[in-house]
Amino acid sequence: MSTRQMKSRDRIVRQSFENRLSHWLVAISTFVLIFTGFGQMPMYARYGVASLPGMAWAADYQLTLVLHYAAGAVLVFAVFFHVLGAIVNSRYGIMPRKGDVKESAQIIAAMFGRGEEPPSHKYLAEQRLAYAFIGANVLLVAVSGIIKVVKNLPGIDMNPTFLFVTTAVHNAAAVFIILGIVGHLAAFVFKQNRALLPAMIDGTVDREYAEHRHELWYRELHPEPAATGGAPLDDVPLEQSA
Ligand code: HEM
Ligand code: HEM
Repeated sequence: MSTRQMKSRDRIVRQSFENRLSHWLVAISTFVLIFTGFGQMPMYARYGVASLPGMAWAADYQLTLVLHYAAGAVLVFAVFFHVLGAIVNSRYGIMPRKGDVKESAQIIAAMFGRGEEPPSHKYLAEQRLAYAFIGANVLLVAVSGIIKVVKNLPGIDMNPTFLFVTTAVHNAAAVFIILGIVGHLAAFVFKQNRALLPAMIDGTVDREYAEHRHELWYRELHPEPAATGGAPLDDVPLEQSA
């Protein structure tokens, strides 16, 4: 058997192209939004970022505003695309469930060598919580951002208290998103979680990893031979959903 065949035999499909596309559109647009959003508060000139080689543009308010609008449009599109895909394909496996907080604590304790990790579905309980936290704040930042775009249109006059609340929501959600991303990336400091990285790149994960860590999901994809009428495991169609 060639190396390529061996590789494909030992890996299974975890993330569809559609899921990867929405993840990276959200991730890249969010990084740009964070950088350009804080550029609206003229801090890059003040704190010397603009004097770094090649960074003078960061203090150009008009430019950071246009980039903020462009990345905002990409984020809003990606959110629509993701939500629509979930509804059309009835994919809700990443939505939080009852008991997720307790289960997350067990998973984290197990990573530090205390106790056994509970059997997981496609997503670990902590991933479902991370999704809810990041997702809710992305929705808040997008809705408040759209209101701020409307406010900037010529001839629009909005109630100042409403605008104050909108800006407070926009800024608070921005800070929570940053905290969420720090937590999200910190998860990959742990070796156990790193096996998920290729899932967001080529869409696959190691078969053995899935079998052990996402046992409930793996068993759904690959029922015991008896339940498939004796079909070999590799003949069972690979799952592509969230
Ligand atoms: C270089 C940066 C990033 C990397 C390497 C990365 C990688 C990943 C990986 C490997 C997963 C798990 C996929 C799976 O379970 O199959 C994931 C999930 C996710 N990512 Fe990212 N991501 C990055 C940035 C971001 C950013 C900036 C956001 C949001 C603003 C984000 C939001 C999410 C969400 C909501 C999930 C699902 C929940 C979870 O698994 O924690 N990611 N990401
Ligand atoms: C992770 C996503 C985002 C982050 C971190 C972020 C951050 C910020 C920050 C820090 C500001 C400056 C303070 C303020 O005026 O409130 C700002 C302003 C603004 N943001 Fe965002 N933002 C995000 C997403 C969006 C989106 C999706 C839109 C539009 C759909 C948007 C539209 C705006 C507008 C119009 C302003 C005001 C610009 C001005 O009039 O000076 N933002 N954002």
